[in-house]
Amino acid sequence: MRVVILGSGRGSNAEAILAAEKAGQLGRAHVVALFTDRADAPMLALGPRFGVPATFVDPAPFKTKLEGEGEARFIAAVSAAQPDLVVLAGFMRVIKPGFLNAFAGRIINLHPSLLPSFPGLDGIGQAFRRGVKITGCTVHGVTAEVDGGPIIDQATVRVEPGDTLESLATKVHAAEHALLPATIARLSVGSA
Ligand code: GAR
Repeated sequence: MRVVILGSGRGSNAEAILAAEKAGQLGRAHVVALFTDRADAPMLALGPRFGVPATFVDPAPFKTKLEGEGEARFIAAVSAAQPDLVVLAGFMRVIKPGFLNAFAGRIINLHPSLLPSFPGLDGIGQAFRRGVKITGCTVHGVTAEVDGGPIIDQATVRVEPGDTLESLATKVHAAEHALLPATIARLSVGSA
């Protein structure tokens, strides 16, 4: 299963996926390319580290969504990598019908809360401020509804009395780093 990863920042989840593949823990999945919409994304450094092409694709003209010329550039770049699965791992743009239809049924997203609670931006902060005692992360199929597609798998994180936003974020990220590669591995063998 050819996997393409899209991200916008740190790339710690992309790194977890690449490390899982290196350790033989990604099932039949193989990461063939990374793409980012930010020229300065630290994630770009993963390319040379793991021997996978990592490329900035200009998302202009929009700031928070992928549409128009930027969307066309992303469709062309991702299509050229011939993905069976497109993984949004911290890709901070709303996906529109052009990209969705180009890879219909093949796009998954990682979200840092237990959906349907706390969709949108800052899922960890939203959960922390609301005072929930259990939060976590979700991998779901991407549809036109932001963070609203079918849930594939989730992991829970307990909010302890002494937790700060920072300590909670660390725990949610650790849960993500385990959940996302495991979900991709299961999808690759048809058991998710
Ligand atoms: C992750 O926590 C992911 O769940 C979140 O961005 C972070 C990316 O971290 N995604 C969203 O909030 C999407 N709405 P990373 O760049 O270190 O993988």
